[in-house]
Amino acid sequence: MTFLGIDIGTSGVKALLIDDDGRALGDASAAAIEPVRPHPGWSEQNPADWWTATLGAIDALKLNHPRELAAVTGIGLSGHMHGATLLGDNDAVLRPAILWNDGRSAQECAEMEAALPRLRELAGNIAMPGFTAPKIAWVRKHEPEIFRQIRKVLLPKAYVRLLLTGEHVEDMSDAAGTLWLDVARRDWSDDLLGVTGLSREHMPRLVEGSAVSAQLKPEFAARWGMAGPVVVAGGAGDNAAAACGIGAIRPGEGFVSLGTSGVLFVSNEKFSPNVAGAVHAFCHAIPDTWHQMGVILSATDSLNWLSRITGQSQAALSAAAEAGFKGPGETIFLPYLSGERTPHNNAEARGAFVGLSQSSDVAQLTRALMEGVSFAMRDCQRVLADAGTSINRLLAVGGGSKSALWLKMLATNLDMEIALPADGDFGGALGAARLGLCAATGARPQEVMTMPPIKAIIAPDTDLSAAYSDQYARYRALYPAIEEARS
Ligand code: XUL
Repeated sequence: MTFLGIDIGTSGVKALLIDDDGRALGDASAAAIEPVRPHPGWSEQNPADWWTATLGAIDALKLNHPRELAAVTGIGLSGHMHGATLLGDNDAVLRPAILWNDGRSAQECAEMEAALPRLRELAGNIAMPGFTAPKIAWVRKHEPEIFRQIRKVLLPKAYVRLLLTGEHVEDMSDAAGTLWLDVARRDWSDDLLGVTGLSREHMPRLVEGSAVSAQLKPEFAARWGMAGPVVVAGGAGDNAAAACGIGAIRPGEGFVSLGTSGVLFVSNEKFSPNVAGAVHAFCHAIPDTWHQMGVILSATDSLNWLSRITGQSQAALSAAAEAGFKGPGETIFLPYLSGERTPHNNAEARGAFVGLSQSSDVAQLTRALMEGVSFAMRDCQRVLADAGTSINRLLAVGGGSKSALWLKMLATNLDMEIALPADGDFGGALGAARLGLCAATGARPQEVMTMPPIKAIIAPDTDLSAAYSDQYARYRALYPAIEEARS
Protein backbone atom coordinates (compact mmCIF):
# COMPACT_ATOMS: atom_id res chain seq x y z
CA MET A 1 0.00 0.00 0.00
CA THR A 2 1.18 3.51 -0.77
CA PHE A 3 -0.28 6.98 -0.20
CA LEU A 4 -0.25 10.12 -2.29
CA GLY A 5 0.01 13.69 -1.01
CA ILE A 6 -0.92 16.53 -3.37
CA ASP A 7 0.06 20.08 -2.39
CA ILE A 8 -1.64 22.78 -4.44
CA GLY A 9 0.64 25.79 -4.02
CA THR A 10 0.34 29.29 -5.42
CA SER A 11 3.21 28.67 -7.83
CA GLY A 12 2.75 24.97 -8.57
CA VAL A 13 1.53 21.55 -7.52
CA LYS A 14 3.72 18.93 -5.85
CA ALA A 15 2.76 15.25 -5.64
CA LEU A 16 4.57 12.94 -3.21
CA LEU A 17 4.30 9.17 -2.69
CA ILE A 18 4.98 7.55 0.69
CA ASP A 19 4.91 3.95 1.91
CA ASP A 20 3.09 2.65 4.99
CA ASP A 21 6.06 3.60 7.18
CA GLY A 22 5.74 7.18 5.93
CA ARG A 23 8.95 6.99 3.86
CA ALA A 24 9.10 9.13 0.71
CA LEU A 25 9.13 6.99 -2.47
CA GLY A 26 9.15 9.69 -5.13
CA ASP A 27 7.77 13.06 -6.03
CA ALA A 28 6.94 15.20 -9.07
CA SER A 29 5.90 18.79 -9.60
CA ALA A 30 4.14 20.89 -12.20
CA ALA A 31 4.30 24.67 -12.31
CA ALA A 32 1.08 26.68 -12.16
CA ILE A 33 0.52 29.93 -13.95
CA GLU A 34 1.52 32.73 -11.55
CA PRO A 35 -1.35 34.77 -10.08
CA VAL A 36 -2.42 37.77 -12.14
CA ARG A 37 -2.77 41.20 -10.54
CA PRO A 38 -5.39 43.13 -12.54
CA HIS A 39 -5.06 46.05 -10.06
CA PRO A 40 -2.46 46.84 -7.38
CA GLY A 41 -3.23 44.71 -4.31
CA TRP A 42 -5.39 42.20 -6.23
CA SER A 43 -4.38 38.59 -6.85
CA GLU A 44 -6.31 36.08 -8.95
CA GLN A 45 -5.75 32.64 -10.43
CA ASN A 46 -7.73 30.46 -12.76
CA PRO A 47 -8.99 27.29 -10.98
CA ALA A 48 -8.48 25.36 -14.23
CA ASP A 49 -4.72 25.96 -13.80
CA TRP A 50 -4.71 24.13 -10.43
CA TRP A 51 -6.39 21.18 -12.11
CA THR A 52 -4.00 21.13 -15.08
CA ALA A 53 -1.00 21.28 -12.72
CA THR A 54 -2.48 18.54 -10.47
CA LEU A 55 -2.93 16.19 -13.42
CA GLY A 56 0.53 17.15 -14.71
CA ALA A 57 2.21 16.30 -11.39
CA ILE A 58 0.43 12.93 -10.96
CA ASP A 59 0.95 11.96 -14.60
CA ALA A 60 4.66 12.73 -14.12
CA LEU A 61 4.72 10.42 -11.10
CA LYS A 62 3.18 7.73 -13.26
CA LEU A 63 6.09 8.02 -15.69
CA ASN A 64 8.77 7.68 -13.01
CA HIS A 65 7.05 5.56 -10.34
CA PRO A 66 4.26 3.59 -12.04
CA ARG A 67 4.28 0.63 -9.63
CA GLU A 68 4.28 2.78 -6.48
CA LEU A 69 1.51 4.99 -7.89
CA ALA A 70 -0.60 1.96 -8.77
CA ALA A 71 -0.40 0.82 -5.12
CA VAL A 72 -2.06 4.02 -3.78
CA THR A 73 -5.07 3.44 -1.49
CA GLY A 74 -5.25 6.88 0.14
CA ILE A 75 -4.80 10.43 -1.15
CA GLY A 76 -4.43 13.59 0.92
CA LEU A 77 -4.79 17.16 -0.32
CA SER A 78 -3.07 20.32 0.88
CA GLY A 79 -3.76 23.72 -0.63
CA HIS A 80 -3.12 27.42 -0.41
CA MET A 81 -5.74 28.75 1.94
CA HIS A 82 -8.62 31.25 1.76
CA GLY A 83 -8.96 31.46 -2.06
CA ALA A 84 -12.60 32.08 -3.08
CA THR A 85 -13.60 29.68 -5.86
CA LEU A 86 -17.13 30.57 -6.96
CA LEU A 87 -19.23 27.87 -8.59
CA GLY A 88 -22.59 28.26 -10.31
CA ASP A 89 -24.98 25.71 -11.82
CA ASN A 90 -23.31 22.41 -12.72
CA ASP A 91 -20.23 23.50 -10.77
CA ALA A 92 -19.23 25.97 -13.51
CA VAL A 93 -16.49 28.39 -12.37
CA LEU A 94 -18.05 31.90 -12.33
CA ARG A 95 -14.90 34.06 -12.24
CA PRO A 96 -11.16 33.72 -11.51
CA ALA A 97 -10.50 32.71 -7.89
CA ILE A 98 -9.60 35.59 -5.55
CA LEU A 99 -6.51 34.48 -3.62
CA TRP A 100 -5.15 34.63 -0.05
CA ASN A 101 -2.87 37.57 -0.87
CA ASP A 102 -5.59 39.72 -2.45
CA GLY A 103 -6.28 42.86 -0.42
CA ARG A 104 -9.27 44.41 -2.24
CA SER A 105 -11.87 43.80 0.47
CA ALA A 106 -10.67 45.97 3.38
CA GLN A 107 -13.82 48.08 3.30
CA GLU A 108 -16.04 45.00 3.26
CA CYS A 109 -14.19 43.71 6.35
CA ALA A 110 -15.13 46.87 8.26
CA GLU A 111 -18.72 46.61 7.03
CA MET A 112 -18.98 42.96 8.09
CA GLU A 113 -17.68 43.72 11.59
CA ALA A 114 -20.17 46.59 11.90
CA ALA A 115 -23.06 44.39 10.72
CA LEU A 116 -22.21 41.57 13.17
CA PRO A 117 -20.52 42.96 16.30
CA ARG A 118 -19.94 39.39 17.61
CA LEU A 119 -18.00 38.48 14.46
CA ARG A 120 -14.56 38.41 16.09
CA GLU A 121 -15.84 36.38 19.02
CA LEU A 122 -17.63 33.85 16.78
CA ALA A 123 -14.88 33.48 14.22
CA GLY A 124 -12.02 33.84 16.73
CA ASN A 125 -10.33 36.04 14.15
CA ILE A 126 -10.42 39.58 12.81
CA ALA A 127 -12.14 40.05 9.45
CA MET A 128 -9.08 40.38 7.20
CA PRO A 129 -9.17 40.81 3.40
CA GLY A 130 -7.12 37.64 3.00
CA PHE A 131 -9.93 35.48 4.36
CA THR A 132 -12.66 34.11 2.10
CA ALA A 133 -15.86 35.74 3.40
CA PRO A 134 -14.83 39.39 2.78
CA LYS A 135 -13.97 38.48 -0.83
CA ILE A 136 -17.58 37.31 -1.31
CA ALA A 137 -18.83 40.53 0.32
CA TRP A 138 -16.78 42.37 -2.33
CA VAL A 139 -18.29 40.29 -5.16
CA ARG A 140 -21.78 40.86 -3.76
CA LYS A 141 -21.23 44.62 -3.90
CA HIS A 142 -19.21 44.98 -7.10
CA GLU A 143 -20.32 42.00 -9.22
CA PRO A 144 -23.95 41.39 -8.15
CA GLU A 145 -24.65 39.41 -11.34
CA ILE A 146 -21.96 36.90 -10.38
CA PHE A 147 -23.06 36.83 -6.74
CA ARG A 148 -26.62 35.87 -7.74
CA GLN A 149 -25.33 32.82 -9.62
CA ILE A 150 -23.27 31.38 -6.73
CA ARG A 151 -24.30 27.85 -5.78
CA LYS A 152 -21.16 26.81 -3.88
CA VAL A 153 -17.99 28.50 -2.60
CA LEU A 154 -14.95 26.22 -2.39
CA LEU A 155 -11.33 26.67 -1.35
CA PRO A 156 -8.61 25.74 -3.87
CA LYS A 157 -7.99 22.18 -2.69
CA ALA A 158 -11.76 21.51 -2.34
CA TYR A 159 -12.13 22.48 -6.00
CA VAL A 160 -9.45 19.96 -6.97
CA ARG A 161 -11.19 17.39 -4.73
CA LEU A 162 -14.48 18.09 -6.54
CA LEU A 163 -12.86 17.21 -9.86
CA LEU A 164 -11.15 14.13 -8.41
CA THR A 165 -14.21 12.76 -6.58
CA GLY A 166 -17.33 14.63 -7.69
CA GLU A 167 -18.06 15.76 -4.10
CA HIS A 168 -18.11 19.12 -2.31
CA VAL A 169 -16.15 18.56 0.92
CA GLU A 170 -13.79 20.67 3.04
CA ASP A 171 -11.60 19.94 6.08
CA MET A 172 -11.68 21.93 9.34
CA SER A 173 -8.25 23.57 9.09
CA ASP A 174 -8.96 25.17 5.71
CA ALA A 175 -12.61 25.89 6.58
CA ALA A 176 -11.37 27.87 9.62
CA GLY A 177 -9.73 30.35 7.24
CA THR A 178 -13.00 31.26 5.53
CA LEU A 179 -14.36 33.34 8.45
CA TRP A 180 -17.61 31.36 8.12
CA LEU A 181 -16.61 28.66 10.60
CA ASP A 182 -17.42 28.64 14.31
CA VAL A 183 -13.83 27.57 14.99
CA ALA A 184 -14.45 26.45 18.60
CA ARG A 185 -17.39 24.19 17.59
CA ARG A 186 -15.87 23.04 14.28
CA ASP A 187 -19.10 23.75 12.38
CA TRP A 188 -20.35 26.38 9.90
CA SER A 189 -21.86 29.42 11.64
CA ASP A 190 -25.25 30.54 10.30
CA ASP A 191 -24.60 34.04 11.69
CA LEU A 192 -21.23 34.38 9.96
CA LEU A 193 -22.62 33.03 6.68
CA GLY A 194 -25.60 35.38 6.94
CA VAL A 195 -23.35 38.47 7.02
CA THR A 196 -22.31 37.74 3.44
CA GLY A 197 -25.78 36.69 2.25
CA LEU A 198 -24.92 32.97 2.14
CA SER A 199 -26.20 29.88 3.95
CA ARG A 200 -25.03 26.31 4.66
CA GLU A 201 -26.31 25.28 1.22
CA HIS A 202 -23.46 27.25 -0.32
CA MET A 203 -20.86 25.44 1.77
CA PRO A 204 -19.16 22.08 1.26
CA ARG A 205 -19.70 19.27 3.79
CA LEU A 206 -17.16 19.33 6.64
CA VAL A 207 -14.83 16.50 7.69
CA GLU A 208 -11.70 16.25 9.83
CA GLY A 209 -8.45 16.32 7.85
CA SER A 210 -7.51 12.76 8.78
CA ALA A 211 -10.97 11.33 7.96
CA VAL A 212 -12.28 10.02 4.64
CA SER A 213 -13.90 12.78 2.56
CA ALA A 214 -14.82 10.88 -0.63
CA GLN A 215 -13.65 8.21 -3.09
CA LEU A 216 -11.46 8.84 -6.13
CA LYS A 217 -13.51 8.57 -9.37
CA PRO A 218 -12.91 5.23 -11.15
CA GLU A 219 -11.75 7.03 -14.32
CA PHE A 220 -8.76 8.54 -12.44
CA ALA A 221 -7.99 5.30 -10.59
CA ALA A 222 -7.83 3.67 -14.05
CA ARG A 223 -5.72 6.50 -15.52
CA TRP A 224 -3.08 6.03 -12.79
CA GLY A 225 -3.32 2.22 -12.69
CA MET A 226 -4.83 2.00 -9.18
CA ALA A 227 -6.72 -1.25 -8.70
CA GLY A 228 -8.80 -0.96 -5.54
CA PRO A 229 -11.01 1.75 -4.12
CA VAL A 230 -8.97 4.86 -3.30
CA VAL A 231 -10.10 7.19 -0.51
CA VAL A 232 -9.39 10.93 -0.43
CA ALA A 233 -8.77 12.31 3.08
CA GLY A 234 -10.11 15.67 4.25
CA GLY A 235 -6.55 16.98 3.98
CA ALA A 236 -5.48 20.39 5.27
CA GLY A 237 -4.76 24.00 4.49
CA ASP A 238 -1.11 24.19 3.45
CA ASN A 239 0.09 25.40 6.85
CA ALA A 240 -1.70 22.73 8.90
CA ALA A 241 -0.50 20.19 6.31
CA ALA A 242 3.11 21.35 6.71
CA ALA A 243 2.64 20.98 10.49
CA CYS A 244 1.47 17.37 9.98
CA GLY A 245 4.53 16.79 7.79
CA ILE A 246 6.99 17.96 10.45
CA GLY A 247 5.10 16.53 13.42
CA ALA A 248 3.94 19.82 14.97
CA ILE A 249 0.68 18.65 16.53
CA ARG A 250 1.31 18.96 20.29
CA PRO A 251 1.08 22.26 22.21
CA GLY A 252 4.11 24.50 21.69
CA GLU A 253 5.41 22.61 18.64
CA GLY A 254 5.74 24.88 15.64
CA PHE A 255 7.48 25.88 12.46
CA VAL A 256 8.66 28.93 10.65
CA SER A 257 7.84 28.82 6.94
CA LEU A 258 9.61 30.85 4.29
CA GLY A 259 7.31 30.21 1.35
CA THR A 260 5.54 32.70 -0.92
CA SER A 261 3.97 33.80 2.39
CA GLY A 262 5.84 33.64 5.70
CA VAL A 263 4.26 31.83 8.63
CA LEU A 264 5.07 31.33 12.30
CA PHE A 265 2.87 28.39 13.29
CA VAL A 266 2.29 26.86 16.72
CA SER A 267 -0.05 24.08 17.85
CA ASN A 268 -2.35 24.75 20.79
CA GLU A 269 -4.01 22.54 23.37
CA LYS A 270 -7.34 24.27 22.82
CA PHE A 271 -8.93 26.92 20.66
CA SER A 272 -6.92 30.03 21.60
CA PRO A 273 -8.22 33.13 19.86
CA ASN A 274 -6.39 36.41 20.31
CA VAL A 275 -7.47 38.99 17.81
CA ALA A 276 -5.04 41.65 19.06
CA GLY A 277 -1.99 41.67 16.80
CA ALA A 278 -3.91 39.93 14.01
CA VAL A 279 -3.07 36.44 15.27
CA HIS A 280 -4.83 33.69 13.28
CA ALA A 281 -6.56 31.05 15.48
CA PHE A 282 -7.67 28.07 13.38
CA CYS A 283 -8.55 24.36 13.68
CA HIS A 284 -5.67 21.95 13.15
CA ALA A 285 -6.13 19.14 10.62
CA ILE A 286 -6.63 16.43 13.24
CA PRO A 287 -9.61 16.11 15.58
CA ASP A 288 -9.79 18.19 18.77
CA THR A 289 -6.65 20.20 18.00
CA TRP A 290 -6.20 23.86 17.14
CA HIS A 291 -3.33 26.15 16.19
CA GLN A 292 -2.31 29.79 16.00
CA MET A 293 -0.17 31.52 13.44
CA GLY A 294 1.23 34.86 12.45
CA VAL A 295 1.14 35.30 8.68
CA ILE A 296 3.12 37.71 6.52
CA LEU A 297 2.14 38.03 2.89
CA SER A 298 5.50 38.36 1.11
CA ALA A 299 8.36 36.14 2.30
CA THR A 300 10.01 34.47 -0.71
CA ASP A 301 7.53 36.52 -2.74
CA SER A 302 9.69 39.56 -1.81
CA LEU A 303 12.74 37.78 -3.25
CA ASN A 304 10.65 36.78 -6.23
CA TRP A 305 9.90 40.45 -6.84
CA LEU A 306 13.56 41.51 -6.53
CA SER A 307 14.56 38.69 -8.85
CA ARG A 308 11.97 39.82 -11.40
CA ILE A 309 13.02 43.46 -11.43
CA THR A 310 16.78 42.80 -11.40
CA GLY A 311 16.69 39.91 -13.87
CA GLN A 312 18.84 37.83 -11.48
CA SER A 313 17.75 34.40 -10.28
CA GLN A 314 16.78 33.95 -6.64
CA ALA A 315 19.74 31.57 -6.23
CA ALA A 316 22.14 34.21 -7.62
CA LEU A 317 20.68 36.87 -5.32
CA SER A 318 20.99 34.58 -2.28
CA ALA A 319 24.58 33.70 -3.12
CA ALA A 320 25.48 37.38 -3.53
CA ALA A 321 23.84 38.21 -0.18
CA GLU A 322 25.75 35.45 1.60
CA ALA A 323 29.17 36.58 0.32
CA GLY A 324 30.60 39.27 2.54
CA PHE A 325 27.77 39.24 5.10
CA LYS A 326 28.87 40.89 8.34
CA GLY A 327 25.62 41.85 10.06
CA PRO A 328 22.92 44.48 9.57
CA GLY A 329 23.91 47.33 7.25
CA GLU A 330 22.37 50.75 6.76
CA THR A 331 19.50 49.63 4.52
CA ILE A 332 16.19 48.45 5.95
CA PHE A 333 13.44 46.70 3.97
CA LEU A 334 9.74 46.60 4.83
CA PRO A 335 8.24 43.53 3.11
CA TYR A 336 4.69 44.84 2.69
CA LEU A 337 4.56 44.38 -1.10
CA SER A 338 1.06 42.85 -0.91
CA GLY A 339 -0.06 44.75 2.22
CA GLU A 340 0.30 42.92 5.53
CA ARG A 341 -1.71 40.69 7.87
CA THR A 342 0.23 40.06 11.09
CA PRO A 343 0.69 42.33 12.99
CA HIS A 344 -0.73 45.32 11.11
CA ASN A 345 -3.87 43.98 9.38
CA ASN A 346 -3.44 46.59 6.66
CA ALA A 347 -4.07 45.61 3.06
CA GLU A 348 -3.02 49.10 1.96
CA ALA A 349 0.45 48.92 3.56
CA ARG A 350 3.28 49.01 1.02
CA GLY A 351 6.92 47.93 1.04
CA ALA A 352 9.96 50.19 1.32
CA PHE A 353 13.73 50.25 1.12
CA VAL A 354 15.03 52.88 3.54
CA GLY A 355 18.65 54.01 3.87
CA LEU A 356 19.91 53.79 0.28
CA SER A 357 23.22 55.31 -0.77
CA GLN A 358 25.46 55.42 -3.85
CA SER A 359 27.14 52.26 -2.58
CA SER A 360 23.90 50.26 -2.26
CA ASP A 361 24.14 47.25 -4.52
CA VAL A 362 21.95 44.26 -5.25
CA ALA A 363 23.73 42.11 -2.64
CA GLN A 364 23.02 44.70 0.06
CA LEU A 365 19.41 45.03 -1.00
CA THR A 366 19.00 41.25 -0.88
CA ARG A 367 20.49 41.12 2.63
CA ALA A 368 18.16 43.92 3.74
CA LEU A 369 15.24 42.05 2.15
CA MET A 370 16.06 38.83 4.06
CA GLU A 371 16.45 40.86 7.25
CA GLY A 372 13.13 42.66 6.69
CA VAL A 373 11.35 39.31 6.32
CA SER A 374 13.12 38.08 9.49
CA PHE A 375 11.96 41.19 11.36
CA ALA A 376 8.41 40.58 10.13
CA MET A 377 8.63 37.04 11.57
CA ARG A 378 9.97 38.56 14.81
CA ASP A 379 6.82 40.72 14.86
CA CYS A 380 4.76 37.51 14.57
CA GLN A 381 6.65 35.96 17.49
CA ARG A 382 6.03 39.12 19.56
CA VAL A 383 2.25 39.07 19.05
CA LEU A 384 2.05 35.31 19.67
CA ALA A 385 3.93 35.90 22.95
CA ASP A 386 1.47 38.73 23.74
CA ALA A 387 -1.27 36.14 23.24
CA GLY A 388 0.40 34.03 25.96
CA THR A 389 1.80 31.46 23.52
CA SER A 390 5.31 30.13 23.81
CA ILE A 391 6.97 28.05 21.18
CA ASN A 392 9.14 25.26 22.48
CA ARG A 393 10.23 23.64 19.21
CA LEU A 394 10.70 25.28 15.84
CA LEU A 395 11.46 23.63 12.49
CA ALA A 396 12.12 25.55 9.27
CA VAL A 397 10.16 24.76 6.10
CA GLY A 398 9.56 26.36 2.70
CA GLY A 399 11.82 27.25 -0.22
CA GLY A 400 13.56 30.12 1.64
CA SER A 401 14.87 27.66 4.25
CA LYS A 402 17.45 26.55 1.65
CA SER A 403 19.35 29.77 2.46
CA ALA A 404 21.73 29.28 5.41
CA LEU A 405 22.03 33.06 5.77
CA TRP A 406 18.27 33.58 5.97
CA LEU A 407 17.97 30.85 8.63
CA LYS A 408 20.79 32.41 10.65
CA MET A 409 19.06 35.80 10.52
CA LEU A 410 15.80 34.17 11.64
CA ALA A 411 17.35 32.18 14.50
CA THR A 412 19.15 35.32 15.73
CA ASN A 413 16.04 37.48 15.54
CA LEU A 414 13.69 34.91 17.07
CA ASP A 415 16.42 34.13 19.62
CA MET A 416 15.68 30.42 19.20
CA GLU A 417 17.34 27.38 17.74
CA ILE A 418 15.76 26.35 14.45
CA ALA A 419 15.88 22.72 13.27
CA LEU A 420 16.18 21.95 9.56
CA PRO A 421 14.56 18.70 8.35
CA ALA A 422 16.82 16.33 6.40
CA ASP A 423 14.19 15.09 3.99
CA GLY A 424 14.14 18.06 1.68
CA ASP A 425 11.35 20.51 1.14
CA PHE A 426 8.12 18.58 0.83
CA GLY A 427 5.98 21.44 2.18
CA GLY A 428 2.40 20.41 2.65
CA ALA A 429 2.72 17.33 0.42
CA LEU A 430 4.17 15.09 3.14
CA GLY A 431 1.51 16.14 5.66
CA ALA A 432 -1.18 15.57 3.03
CA ALA A 433 0.18 12.09 2.25
CA ARG A 434 0.20 11.30 5.99
CA LEU A 435 -3.45 12.42 6.25
CA GLY A 436 -4.22 10.14 3.26
CA LEU A 437 -2.53 7.27 5.15
CA CYS A 438 -4.65 7.94 8.28
CA ALA A 439 -7.87 8.06 6.25
CA ALA A 440 -7.10 4.87 4.31
CA THR A 441 -5.79 2.74 7.20
CA GLY A 442 -7.43 4.22 10.30
CA ALA A 443 -3.96 4.82 11.83
CA ARG A 444 -3.91 7.31 14.74
CA PRO A 445 -2.65 10.73 13.60
CA GLN A 446 -0.60 11.04 16.81
CA GLU A 447 1.45 8.02 15.71
CA VAL A 448 1.78 9.05 12.08
CA MET A 449 2.64 12.78 12.44
CA THR A 450 6.18 12.31 13.80
CA MET A 451 9.13 14.69 13.57
CA PRO A 452 11.35 13.96 10.54
CA PRO A 453 15.13 13.39 10.90
CA ILE A 454 16.93 16.70 11.40
CA LYS A 455 20.03 17.56 9.36
CA ALA A 456 21.10 20.76 11.10
CA ILE A 457 20.31 22.92 14.09
CA ILE A 458 20.75 26.62 13.42
CA ALA A 459 21.63 28.53 16.57
CA PRO A 460 21.26 32.30 17.08
CA ASP A 461 24.44 34.23 16.35
CA THR A 462 24.83 35.91 19.74
CA ASP A 463 27.54 38.25 18.36
CA LEU A 464 24.84 39.84 16.21
CA SER A 465 21.94 39.79 18.70
CA ALA A 466 22.39 43.34 19.97
CA ALA A 467 22.89 44.80 16.48
CA TYR A 468 19.75 43.04 15.28
CA SER A 469 17.72 44.24 18.28
CA ASP A 470 18.74 47.83 17.42
CA GLN A 471 17.91 47.34 13.75
CA TYR A 472 14.56 45.73 14.66
CA ALA A 473 13.67 48.80 16.76
CA ARG A 474 14.41 51.01 13.71
CA TYR A 475 12.36 48.67 11.51
CA ARG A 476 9.38 48.92 13.87
CA ALA A 477 9.56 52.72 13.94
CA LEU A 478 9.43 52.90 10.13
CA TYR A 479 5.95 51.43 9.58
CA PRO A 480 3.97 54.11 11.47
CA ALA A 481 6.21 56.89 10.09
CA ILE A 482 5.79 55.72 6.49
CA GLU A 483 2.07 55.15 6.92
CA GLU A 484 1.67 58.69 8.22
CA ALA A 485 3.62 60.13 5.31
CA ARG A 486 1.56 58.13 2.79
CA SER A 487 -1.82 59.13 4.20
C1 XUL B 1 -2.30 31.61 5.57
C2 XUL B 1 -2.08 32.13 4.20
C3 XUL B 1 -0.95 31.62 3.40
C4 XUL B 1 -1.46 30.74 2.30
C5 XUL B 1 -0.33 30.52 1.31
O1 XUL B 1 -3.28 32.27 6.28
O2 XUL B 1 -2.80 32.95 3.70
O3 XUL B 1 0.02 30.99 4.16
O4 XUL B 1 -2.02 29.57 2.82
O5 XUL B 1 -0.17 29.35 0.83
